[in-house]
Amino acid sequence: MKTPVDIAVTGAAGQISYSLLFRLAAGDLLGPDQPIVLRLLEITPALEVLKGVVMELHDCAFPLLHKVVITDDPKVAFDNVDYAFLIGAKPRRHGMLRSDLLSENAEIFIVQGRALNEAASRNVKVLVTGNPANTNAYLAISQAPDLAPECFAAMTMLDHTRAVSQLAQKCGVLTKDIKNITVWGNHSCMQYPDLHHARVKGQEALSLVEHDWFVNEFLPTVQHRGTEVIKTRGQSSAGSAANAVIKHMSTWINGTDDGDWVSMAVPSDGSYGIEPGLVFSFPVTVTNGQYNIVKGLDLNEFSLERLRQNQAELIEERQMVRHLL
Ligand code: NAI
Repeated sequence: MKTPVDIAVTGAAGQISYSLLFRLAAGDLLGPDQPIVLRLLEITPALEVLKGVVMELHDCAFPLLHKVVITDDPKVAFDNVDYAFLIGAKPRRHGMLRSDLLSENAEIFIVQGRALNEAASRNVKVLVTGNPANTNAYLAISQAPDLAPECFAAMTMLDHTRAVSQLAQKCGVLTKDIKNITVWGNHSCMQYPDLHHARVKGQEALSLVEHDWFVNEFLPTVQHRGTEVIKTRGQSSAGSAANAVIKHMSTWINGTDDGDWVSMAVPSDGSYGIEPGLVFSFPVTVTNGQYNIVKGLDLNEFSLERLRQNQAELIEERQMVRHLL
C-alpha cells in the first residue's frame, strides 16, 4: 500500500467542506490507489459539529481514508501536509464594513501563513478559498518566507467553470468543447471573465456570439453568479465551490490539457503590467506540478481597462490590511 498523504482542510465544519471532505475521502483528488489522512481545522466552538461530520465520514467506510485528525491548532492541522485547503473564514455580517471583514479575515490568514511556514511540507500546495481569497493568499504568502510563493494560489476556478458553462449553454455545445477562457483579476464582482481568446470547437468564441451578449449578459452573469445563488438557494455556493476546489487542485497536480489553460489567482510576476507579488487571477498552464502564467496574449483597451480596475481593487484591499503586517 502507498504511504498515506496528509491533506489539511480549514473551516472543516462549514458548508463547502461538507461536500469537499466526502469527495477527498472517495479518491476524487488523488485517485483510487492513494490513501489519505485528513487533518481538519476548526475554531474551538465548531469542533463539536465537526465531530458529527467525522462520524459521517467514518460511516462511509471509505477504503482510502486512513485517519482523521481534528484540531483547533493550525500547527497540528498543517503538520507535514502536502496539500492545504484554506476554506475557513468569517462571513460578512449585516452592517459590517468591507474593511472590517478584510481585517478579521486577515488575522486568520496571517496566523495560518505562519503555521504553514513552520509545519507544512516544503512542497506543499496551498489553495486559498476563504474570502477575500486573493488578499488572504497574499497575506499567507507574506508570513511564509521559508515556502516558495509558488506553493500558494487563490481560487478563481469556480468563476472559470461558471464562465465555461455560460458560454457552452449559449452556443449549444458541451463544456468540453470550450477552450481558453480566462477569468482575470480578483475573486470579486470586479473579476473579468474574458472571451477574447476563447474557442468553441476550435472557432473563435466572439465570432459566434453577439458582442452585446458578451458585454451585457455574459460578463454580469458570471460576475454576480455567487450573489444570484445566495438569492435563489438561500445559502452561498457550496457544492459547486467544492467541485472547483477539486478541479483547481487536480489541475495543479496533473497539469492542463494540451492547447488549453485554466484560471488561477497566483502571485504576479509582472505579466500584463500587474504589480509583482499581487495575487491576481491569470490564465495558467501547469506542467510537472508547477503553474506558469500564459504570456504574450494580445489584450485590447476594453480588456486592459478591466485588468487595471482589478489591480486597483486588490491594491486597495492590501492597503486596508497593511497595518496588520
Ligand atoms: P461556512 O460559513 O459554512 O464555513 C466556514 C467555516 O470556517 C465555519 O465552520 C467556521 O467555523 C470556520 N472558521 C472560521 N474561522 C476559522 C479559523 N480561523 N480556522 C478554521 N476554521 C475557521 O462557509 P462556506 O460556505 O464553507 O465558505 C467558506 C469560505 O469560502 C467563505 O469565505 C466564502 O465566502 C468562500 N467562498 C469562496 C469561493 C471562491 O470561489 N473563492 C466560492 C464560495 C465560497
